Amino acid sequence: MLSAGGMPARALALPSPLSVVDSLPVYSTALASAVPLRFRASSNESAFPPPPAVVDAATAAIAAGNRYPAIHATDLLAALSAFTGRDSAEIATADGSLSLLQHLLGAFVRPDSSVVYAWRSYEAYPIAIALAGGRGRPVPLTAAHEHDLDAMADAVDDTTTAVILCNPNNPTGTAFGRRELERFLDAVPTSTLVIYDEAYRDFVDPARIDPFEATDLLAAHPNLVVLRTFSKVYSLAGLRVGYLVADEAVAGAVRRVLPPFPLSAVAVAAAIAALGEDDFRVRVARAVLRERDLVTTALSNGGYDVVPSSGNFVWLPIGDAAVPLQHALRECGIAIRAFPGEGARISVGEAGLADALAEALPPAPVV
Ligand SMILES: Cc1ncc(COP(=O)(O)O)c(C=O)c1O
Repeated sequence: MLSAGGMPARALALPSPLSVVDSLPVYSTALASAVPLRFRASSNESAFPPPPAVVDAATAAIAAGNRYPAIHATDLLAALSAFTGRDSAEIATADGSLSLLQHLLGAFVRPDSSVVYAWRSYEAYPIAIALAGGRGRPVPLTAAHEHDLDAMADAVDDTTTAVILCNPNNPTGTAFGRRELERFLDAVPTSTLVIYDEAYRDFVDPARIDPFEATDLLAAHPNLVVLRTFSKVYSLAGLRVGYLVADEAVAGAVRRVLPPFPLSAVAVAAAIAALGEDDFRVRVARAVLRERDLVTTALSNGGYDVVPSSGNFVWLPIGDAAVPLQHALRECGIAIRAFPGEGARISVGEAGLADALAEALPPAPVV
């Protein structure tokens, strides 16, 4: 139908999205402000641009951008296989680990499925679970802001398709070790997937928690799914690359539900090059641990209780004082993330942030 002016008339009734869409929580964002940004400490990004070899590889891929990349990113799968020591049939890769989580849940969650996860944890989990049609079953963290693994194992029942563990946990920074993970895997039936999101694995301080390869537990626990990202220590958040390692049957199911060409040729080239940049990764991880100590000290000196962190961020459990802190720091050019009523998360890595915080911090609230 045409309107009086000859333009097509706007349809009056649009199809409605699924009812779950309206009920999805909205992702939190950094605060906008006219004050110029000095420190971007709100998104747990790497403060370091990718190294020259990665930029060169990505740039060269642009020049061949008229061609599709390998259909299922088979070249990146081969590189990841060499890097992890796993068969490429056990790996799936896509545009970020969050995208993989969504496809994994989409492939396995049934209408009556429950999915257990810790809370507070990564805010994308309840959204991904609801979108997959599952029922989220959040299990509160302990008073020490850690996963309550016993309570999480108890929350698993016949309806539980998956449990999501975030280790180290975003946003509290708490972490557990290999023994705790093995104990949890022993307590959960193999018919339940244990999705182990280790986005921040490279920032665990070996003086506090012994580093371990979660993929080593796959042989004894085929229901384990290890999720990893190139967004943190590899400094490729803007290029969107993640991968998972799991039993062949699980990884194969995810590859089948992924669209063809799940990654751009640029992202594939950058990720393959990044896997060869060990020195860079070590430098980024060291810088984060150093800055994390400085930021923790600055906050503690300012009277704030800081949860000891194993991530590239620190958590202040300051409840209702989180939003005022976010506003006060933003007025000083420092962007952080507030979780209203719960706490504030400050990403670390940028040099000078600790000094800037020491100057800008308002008095610590009495919690
Ligand atoms: C725990 C956790 N998992 C996954 C992601 C997302 O990773 P990606 O950028 O690979 O989608 C984040 C991002 O902040 C995260 O905190």
